[in-house]
Formats: sequence, C-alpha cells, structure tokens
Amino acid sequence: MTTTPTSPLRYAEDREAALEIIAASYRGPLKYAKAVLERWPRAHAIVAIAEGQPAAAEIYYLLELAKPTCVHYYIAVAPHHRRRGIATQLVKTVEQLCGTPVHMATTTLDNQAATALFTKLGYTPYQWSEIPRHARETLLKATCGYDDDILLIKGAHPTEAARHTPEVETLWRETCYKPYIGL
Ligand SMILES: CC(C)(COP(=O)(O)OP(=O)(O)OC[C@H]1O[C@@H](n2cnc3c(N)ncnc32)[C@H](O)[C@@H]1OP(=O)(O)O)[C@@H](O)C(=O)NCCC(=O)NCCS
Repeated sequence: MTTTPTSPLRYAEDREAALEIIAASYRGPLKYAKAVLERWPRAHAIVAIAEGQPAAAEIYYLLELAKPTCVHYYIAVAPHHRRRGIATQLVKTVEQLCGTPVHMATTTLDNQAATALFTKLGYTPYQWSEIPRHARETLLKATCGYDDDILLIKGAHPTEAARHTPEVETLWRETCYKPYIGL
C-alpha cells in the first residue's frame, strides 16, 4: 500500500536529471527519449524532487489526434523512493500540465507496477490486438509503441482517440523511425 512521501514534492523541468533517473530504471536505449526531447517542440522532461533530491522523472509530449492528446512516454521513480505514491503524484501533475482530454501510455505486458499505477489513475489497458487495425496503426505511431506492449488510455476509447493527422506521421518519422534506423 502506498505511504505518503515524507515531504511535499517539488517539480522542475530538467532534461539531464530526468534522463539520468530514467536511464537507471530502463533497460532499453535512451535514443527515443532523447529524440523526442530534441525533435518534438511539445515534449517535456520533468523531475519530482523529494527531500531536495530528484526522486522521479517523466518525459511526456503533446500531439493532436482526434482530440488533443498527452503521451506519458517515460516514467521512472528511483528505486529507494518507490511505493510512496510519487509516481501517482507525478502522473497527476503531468495530466494537469498537459490539460488535454486524452492521455496515453504504453508499457510491456509484464510490467505489473506500471499497469497498476495507470489503471488506478483511471486508464484502461488494451492489448494492441484488441484494437481495430486502422486505430492501432495510428496509436502505435503516436506512442512509438511496440506490438507486444499494452496501451493504457484515459479520456477516450482507442477508436475515438485515433485520427491519422499529419502530426502523427511527422512525430513518428522524426522521433521513432529515424532513431530506429540510426538517423
Ligand atoms: C512503475 C513505477 C514508476 C511506479 O512508481 P511508484 O512511485 O512506486 O508508484 P506509486 O507508489 O505511485 O504506486 C501506485 C500504484 O502502482 C502500483 N504499483 C507500484 N509499484 C508496484 C509494484 N512493484 N508491483 C505491483 N504494483 C505496483 C500499486 O497499485 C500502487 O498503489 P499501492 O502502493 O497503493 O498499492 C516504478 O516502479 C518504476 O520506476 N519502475 C521502473 C520504470 C518503469 O517500469 N516505468 C514504467 C514504464 S511505462
């Protein structure tokens, strides 16, 4: 059960500190996180500061689909700060900063912590295979998701949220496809 952090969290935009916290918790490469921060003007990196130290980070971005959408792209809490409600507060803070009607995140099927975190916050999990093909292709591009991830979405059903705008294609090409092929 979550216990309340001992002191209130402060938040700051800080790319370097955010990438450092995320690098320590993710096994995969950081090239996608860096690419979105460098190439997508509406991408942000925020850290949550607890007891004077960066304790958690989120990278998120905004884009236009059927409705304005916020993608919670990377989130990590430093191991010794976990299970104190910090990720819950960080996601809620980012939701407010985005101010969009629709929110999305993806995670691997086996990530029970992330699935439970977002589900508790009102997100609905979907396996990509459950989503009709046209919507699936758009949302995979919008989140730079993998076929074997799950989508967590709040504010709309995937078929209502997905609209293949020119923005989706640009976002995907610049921050997902190009880093994938090493550009
Ligand atoms: C996922 C992560 C961000 C959660 O951070 P956190 O600050 O510990 O999360 P919270 O304390 O806000 O927990 C909220 C809820 O998430 C769930 N949860 C969190 N950690 C969990 C775990 N290890 N196992 C199962 N459920 C977990 C619980 O339902 C929890 O509520 P509860 O404590 O009242 O039971 C953290 O475990 C992490 O950094 N993991 C490594 C990086 C990662 O996997 N990121 C997500 C990829 S999308």
